[in-house]
Amino acid sequence: MQTKLVALAGAGVIAMVTVASLAQNNRPQVPEGLMFLGEPVTEAQVVLGQNIYADNCAACHGADLEGQPDWQRRLDNGRMPAPPHDESGHTWHHSDRNLFIVTRGGVEAVVPGYESDMPAFGETLSDAELVAVLSYLKSTWPERQRRSKQK
Ligand code: HEC
Repeated sequence: MQTKLVALAGAGVIAMVTVASLAQNNRPQVPEGLMFLGEPVTEAQVVLGQNIYADNCAACHGADLEGQPDWQRRLDNGRMPAPPHDESGHTWHHSDRNLFIVTRGGVEAVVPGYESDMPAFGETLSDAELVAVLSYLKSTWPERQRRSKQK
């Protein structure tokens, strides 16, 4: 419990510093009433999430959330390429809980034995950071995609 609180506090500090440095430009838009796992999403979380995305996800899922080229076609090794996280992909079809579990434990966490290039981030990112990065993805979706799943 205590480590979790420390992690949350740490994420808060990073978020505050980032908000301060980004305040002038590139300010993310947090859509009115945006929720993740039943909690309101704050601008600080989205700013933190945007940075986490750039550092941990953009290499595969694309700097603009566009995914890998030809992402619907299986690779020669039988695995799937990284899908986009914008509204053209299917990330928004999943519930918040499902996205959280997949990002923390990899696709194997929901489909046992499934081989995938999607890493499990449970060791590298705290729960608060996972919530932040997924809230950031959600903040970029148009209203229909955002509202398709509430929890
Ligand atoms: C090494 C490449 C790689 C990195 C880095 C990566 N992913 Fe993925 N991700 C994938 C691949 C490949 C898939 C497709 C999984 C499959 O079907 O095998 C995927 C799938 C997903 C899915 C499921 C999407 C869906 O519609 O089913 C989510 C959510 C996701 N990634 C989130 C993230 C987040 C958040 C990060 C950064 C914290 C991240 N990924 C970093 C490769 C990556």
